Amino acid sequence: MDIIGQFPLFYFPEYGSAWMMGITGTIHILFSHTSVGAAMLFAFLAHKAYKENRSDYYPYMKKYGMFLLIFSYVLGSITGPGIWNTATAASPRGISALIHNFVWVWATEWVFFIYEVIGVFVLVYFIDRIDRKTHLKLTYTFALASVGTLALIIGIISFMMWPGTQAFYATGSASDAFFGINTFPHMFLRIGFMIMMSGVIGLVISSSMRKENEELSNELSRKMGYISIIGGFITLFFFIWYMGTLPENAHAVFAFSKDAIIQNRIILTLVFVAYFAIAIIKPRWINPVIASVMIGVILISGLWSGEKLRESMRKPYVAGQYIYSNQIISRDVPGKNIKSELPIIAEKGLLHLNPFVPARLKTITDENRKDAGELLAKMACSNCHSLEKTGVFRPLKDRLTGMDKEGIKSILYAMGEGAFSYMPTLKLPETEYDAIAEYFASLHY
Ligand code: HEC
Repeated sequence: MDIIGQFPLFYFPEYGSAWMMGITGTIHILFSHTSVGAAMLFAFLAHKAYKENRSDYYPYMKKYGMFLLIFSYVLGSITGPGIWNTATAASPRGISALIHNFVWVWATEWVFFIYEVIGVFVLVYFIDRIDRKTHLKLTYTFALASVGTLALIIGIISFMMWPGTQAFYATGSASDAFFGINTFPHMFLRIGFMIMMSGVIGLVISSSMRKENEELSNELSRKMGYISIIGGFITLFFFIWYMGTLPENAHAVFAFSKDAIIQNRIILTLVFVAYFAIAIIKPRWINPVIASVMIGVILISGLWSGEKLRESMRKPYVAGQYIYSNQIISRDVPGKNIKSELPIIAEKGLLHLNPFVPARLKTITDENRKDAGELLAKMACSNCHSLEKTGVFRPLKDRLTGMDKEGIKSILYAMGEGAFSYMPTLKLPETEYDAIAEYFASLHY
C-alpha cells in the first residue's frame, strides 16, 4: 500500500491551531525568559552584595526568588509541557523533525533545566543559611545553567526558521542544523530581552518594598531601570541583525506587514524608554500596580506580536525548510534519508496516501466530492487559514471572496510559485483540485 507518514489531522475551528501555539508559546516565553533574565540578575546582585558588602540586597533577592519560584518555575513548568502538547497536535511532523535532529540537545537542555529548578529552590531556601561566598558561587552556576538552557533551545528554534547552512541537507548532522547563521543573533536578541524582563519584573518587587525601606526601594528601582534600558537596546540591536539573517521567504512574508511592525516597535520603544527613564529619575512614581501593568503591555504588544511574526515568517515551512506547515515534506534531505513527497502526492493524491482518511472518502465520487473537498481543504489550508466565514486566522473568506470554481482552481495551481511563494506548493491529481475548488465555491465566501 502507498502511504505517507501523516498523523491524524488536528483541526481547530475559527482560530486555527497556529493561534493555540501562539497563545501557549507567548505565555511560556514570558515565564521562561524571565527566569533566565533573573538568573543573570541574581549573579550580578550577588556579586555586588558580596564585593561591596551590601547585605541589604539579600532580602530583595529572596523576595524576587520567591516570586520567581511561582511565576517562572511553577507556571513555566506547566506551560512548557503545554507547548509540547499543543505543538504535537498542531504540527506533529514539525515536532518529529526537532526530536529527530536534536535528541541529544534536548536531553542536555533538560539536564541544565533540572539544575535550574533545583537551583532556584536552593538559592531561596539557603540564602540566609549558608555563607555568602558559597551563595555567590551557587548563583553563578545557576546563571550558567539558565543561559545554557536558553542557548540550546535557541539553536533548535532557529533551525525551525532554516538550518542556515546548506550542508545540513547532505550531512543531516546536528551541528550543521544547530549552528545556522541566524542562531547567534537570535540568541543575543533573546538575552537582551531577558535582561530587560529581569528589570521589568524587578521593578514590581523593588516598588513593593517601599514601606519597609524607602531608600533601598528607590535605589533598586533605579538599578532596574538601568538594567532594563541596557537589555532593551541589546534586544533592538540584535533584532535588526537577526532580520538580516533570515531566508528569502521570510522577507516575502515580512513585507506584508512591515510598516505596521516597524511602527509598533517604535511606539513600544518610546513607551518603555519613558517608563525606564521614570524608574531612574523618579523611582517614587512607580508602584507595583503600574509595574504589573507594564508586564501585561510587554506580553501583549511585544511578545505576542513578535512571536506571531516569527511564526508567520517561517511560511510556508514549519521546520528546516523541508516540512511545510501543512505537514507535507517538500524536498529531499539525503543526510536524513528523507524524500520529498510532492511527486507521489501529485500522482496518487492526498486522500489515497494519508492513512487516516476514512475509507468512504478514499475515492472521489459525485456523491462525496464536497466532503472530500472539505477534508482536503482542512489538510492543505487549515494550518494557515481559518475556513469558517466567521474565522479570525488569515481567513479564506477574505481571500477567496466572490471567486468561482475556476478562479479558485487557478490559485491552487499557482500555490508555491512566484507571487504565491509564501504558500506550500500544492501538486494534486485533477480530481482533488476539483473537489477542493467545488467545496470552497459552495461556501460562497
Ligand atoms: C504555510 C501556510 C499556508 C498554507 C498551508 C496556505 N496558505 Fe494561503 N496564504 C498564506 C500566506 C502567508 C498568505 C499571504 C498573507 C495573507 O494573505 O494574509 C496567503 C494568502 C492566500 C491567498 C491570498 C493571495 C493573494 O495574494 O491574493 C489565498 C487566496 C490563499 N492564501 C488560499 C489558500 C488556499 C486555498 C490554501 C489551501 C489549499 C492555502 N492558501 C494554504 C499561507 C498559507
